[in-house]
Amino acid sequence: MKKQDTLLNKINDKSAEIAVVGLGYVGLPLAVEFANAGFNVTGIDVSTDKVKKINKGQNYIDDVDDDLLKSLVKSGKLTATSDYSVLKKIDCVSICVPTPLGKTGDPDISYMLSARDAILPYIKPPLLFVLESTTYPGSTNELIVPMMEEKGLKIGEDVFIAFSPERVDPGNPVYQTHNTPKVVGGVTKACTKMASELYGSVIDKIIPVSSCTTAEMTKLLENTFRSINIGLANEIAIMCKYLNADVWEVISAAATKPFGFMPFFPGPGLGGHCIPIDPLYLSWKLKTLDYKARFIELADEVNSSMPEYVIGLISDALNDKAKSIKKSKILLLGMAYKKDIDDLRESPALDVYEYLESRGAKVTYYDPYIPQFKWDNKIVKSKVYNDKLIKSQDCVVVLTAHSNIDYKSIVKNAKLIVDTRNATKGIRNKKIVKL
Ligand SMILES: NC(=O)c1ccc[n+]([C@@H]2O[C@H](COP(=O)([O-])OP(=O)(O)OC[C@H]3O[C@@H](n4cnc5c(N)ncnc54)[C@H](O)[C@@H]3O)[C@@H](O)[C@H]2O)c1
Repeated sequence: MKKQDTLLNKINDKSAEIAVVGLGYVGLPLAVEFANAGFNVTGIDVSTDKVKKINKGQNYIDDVDDDLLKSLVKSGKLTATSDYSVLKKIDCVSICVPTPLGKTGDPDISYMLSARDAILPYIKPPLLFVLESTTYPGSTNELIVPMMEEKGLKIGEDVFIAFSPERVDPGNPVYQTHNTPKVVGGVTKACTKMASELYGSVIDKIIPVSSCTTAEMTKLLENTFRSINIGLANEIAIMCKYLNADVWEVISAAATKPFGFMPFFPGPGLGGHCIPIDPLYLSWKLKTLDYKARFIELADEVNSSMPEYVIGLISDALNDKAKSIKKSKILLLGMAYKKDIDDLRESPALDVYEYLESRGAKVTYYDPYIPQFKWDNKIVKSKVYNDKLIKSQDCVVVLTAHSNIDYKSIVKNAKLIVDTRNATKGIRNKKIVKL
């Protein structure tokens, strides 16, 4: 039997041993999905804390069901380790490690490279190798394929390599790993087929594409589309201020058009591990090819300027009350980068916090999902929410509109509110200053 068929059979009868490298927001839900479908899954993570938690059946990702994780660990379907040598027994491996930006704003692919290098010594053909981490187009062909070939492995025979972007939307109650269509692009047709078979066994719909680069570019188009449209919404919000129009009313009226318009909303800036970062992977790659990705750079400029724009709104609103930012008590409501989740990565609220601190405000925050965060080597803790807290502030700034907050009561008790998310929609009160 051909090596390809041996692996296909193992995938189809679910006897394939699967490893997921990187057990974060993307990797853990994927590992749980595979284990729940009947595969034996080993999660590999450099964080010993995460490994310990999983092996104790303790969940740390909101999108994963606590009881399901516990039962999969108990039944032995899911285990975790920091030891890459388990790869000796693995048939399929998915890489879900971070791909952030470095200090200079260029892609930091070091996590991907270290995962790749840690895997290489343990490859036992046939192996399916899928990269899920978002990266620049060409990465799989440039960073993965040559190293496999140098080891004497034949692509599409000994090792099947594909890129399949993760599209998970943390906190989305409808679309999760299993029902979000999955794009798969392999180095060869056999690679695409192998990866499609594996993912097809746990995900409702697979979209095979002709190459890894197409799959990489698809993911970047999706996130660049969001970044640019949010950038447009942010600039429209600034224009509406000049025109004395309510941007929220403008957008909701435009959204009544049944075709050709999709609403995007302004806010205090972009956050999370995807939208502020991924388009810059694309523009960086194009820079190396002497092409300037103008839309991406402009959207990044507008989106990155929003925290400072919000500071301007706070400053003007306080000024109208004969107050300055300096020494004013300012409470930030919502630090997470989007509503109803506990993710603080790249949150624009951190920039707003920093600007206010540096201008001498007495700044505090309340976020039911973020009990504390580290800032300037200090631990900053969330205030306990009550009416007295709101009444005691010179200004309350809504940065993330979590659903479990009573905005009517905030309007009633606050002296001044700067609302960057339209959380106070439908409430008319002169105390409210909207983005
Ligand atoms: N979070 C999202 O909403 C989302 C959505 C789509 C795509 N993505 C992409 O998926 C990838 C992972 O993102 P995430 O949000 O899950 O990140 P994360 O930080 O939540 O998780 C990554 C995990 O990888 C581990 N890790 C780092 N280096 C490792 C190594 N060498 N070996 C083993 N483990 C290692 C970390 O300890 C961490 O647990 C990124 O490329 C991201 O852009 C994320």
